[in-house]
Amino acid sequence: HLPPIANEAYQHYAPGSPERAAQRAALEALERETPVRIPCVVNGREIYDGAELVEQRMPHDHRRVLAVYRPLDEALVREAIRGSLEARQRWSRTPADERAAIFLKAAELLSQRYRYRVNAATMLGQGKNVWQAEIDSAVETIDFWRFGVKYMREIYAMQPPENVPRGVWNRLEWRPLEGFVAAITPFNFTAIGANLPSSPAMMGNVALWKPSDNTELSTWMVFQILREAGLPDGVIQYLPGNGPVFSGVCLTDRHLAGLHFTGSTRTFHALWQQMSAQLSAYRNYPRIVGETGGKNFHFVHPSADLDWVVPHTIRGAFEYQGQKCSATSRMYVPRSLWPPLRDRLVSEMQQIRVGAADDFTVFMSAVIHRRAFERIRSYIERVRAASGTAEVLFGGECDDSRGYFIQPTLVVTTDPQFVTMKEEVFGPLLTCYVYDDDQVEQALDMAADDSEYGLTGAIFARDRHAMMRMTDRLRDAAGNFYINDKCTGSIVGQQPFGGARQSGTNDKSGSLLNLLRWASARAIKESM
Ligand code: SER
Repeated sequence: HLPPIANEAYQHYAPGSPERAAQRAALEALERETPVRIPCVVNGREIYDGAELVEQRMPHDHRRVLAVYRPLDEALVREAIRGSLEARQRWSRTPADERAAIFLKAAELLSQRYRYRVNAATMLGQGKNVWQAEIDSAVETIDFWRFGVKYMREIYAMQPPENVPRGVWNRLEWRPLEGFVAAITPFNFTAIGANLPSSPAMMGNVALWKPSDNTELSTWMVFQILREAGLPDGVIQYLPGNGPVFSGVCLTDRHLAGLHFTGSTRTFHALWQQMSAQLSAYRNYPRIVGETGGKNFHFVHPSADLDWVVPHTIRGAFEYQGQKCSATSRMYVPRSLWPPLRDRLVSEMQQIRVGAADDFTVFMSAVIHRRAFERIRSYIERVRAASGTAEVLFGGECDDSRGYFIQPTLVVTTDPQFVTMKEEVFGPLLTCYVYDDDQVEQALDMAADDSEYGLTGAIFARDRHAMMRMTDRLRDAAGNFYINDKCTGSIVGQQPFGGARQSGTNDKSGSLLNLLRWASARAIKESM
């Protein structure tokens, strides 16, 4: 008997619309409050003092400090672990419907009261334009909470079949994990920040949440919404900053029951290695759920309709400055379609407006921080240095005088193994490889096998026979596979999200499969 669970309606922010005015007012109100002071929160206690505060600056204007936060330290993490294990005693026995009500209430609060405020924090702090913020910090966060409740209840309803002998009652008890979950969350989605501690907590677990250093303001708002919705103290502990100290303490604790991670492949390897050195010290083998890098492709078949390829590729590659783990970053194009496709992409790219995230006319804004700016620029320089093998067809300008701005950049290469066809750039850079029309199979082999990643991919074709053949050949190349659609933008409740290979454990966020990882079943047989 749940209230109807449906995807949150998307607001459009058209010029003159009431939501645009409300969003503008929320941006202005938030700017008047900056810099916002953000504490660590342990057992409900807000800790502001005791360490030097760290700044969160705006990507599109790095002179402006948006927030200052009190970073975690070792003693606080230890206290948070003790406190969460105490909170667990009550929370793990709290009826599921009471837990569900908290997350449904949080979704309602975000939808009706805090939407524009959290969008504003995501725009100013993470460099999203209003539509990207709406998709992320409003719609996706709300969907994660609402659908999570639905999946939680479906899991509890999963019971053994009833064809048993008389006098026997078999049942499954879906227990929370024995211990605490460490949730380490990325900069690029406020919603992922919200979901990684929330989905274990829904299932009756306790979590320590370390948000990304670049999302403190939006994640702090999300955390406050959960508290206002009734989340008891200690169920989620909010611990910003200082990742190595956080993982050093959490991952060596005997009571670590799970790691819920989204971030870079390199960090995930380091965390997994730290855990593997510890196995006999843990009370339980911790669940490891990770979503990491990608090298996502668009594969254009000779039968493709360019009217579909062009807009989907522009959106897939350049929305949010290419900083989605799912962003399109390599493309395979048949020689017959290359000249018109190239010209149409360039003509669209000429019209892309890049600017401040709170300017409602821009499509793109700045990349997240200086390190990202330097990394992306170094890839552009490698393309420029590779004359003969690769060339920049459009874009490539980088300007960090005020914010970390990189123009949308289109590269073509004659080498399918070129560095920007292989390595994750995580920025607005798309590399194209042109194949001969009679070499579709060889090009498919490259798309299928040449990447160590396996997150997302898309094919474009009108020929349905070719479509089916390609879908089969690319079976292992992407955990989220799209036909005549961009390879980004999965929706909670519609396309469970995640990939295999070096892209993660493929535990499909936004689906029942993710929540299953936060339960440990006990099979009970009772003879009567
Ligand atoms: N769900 C997002 C997408 O598909 C990535 O996290 O783009």
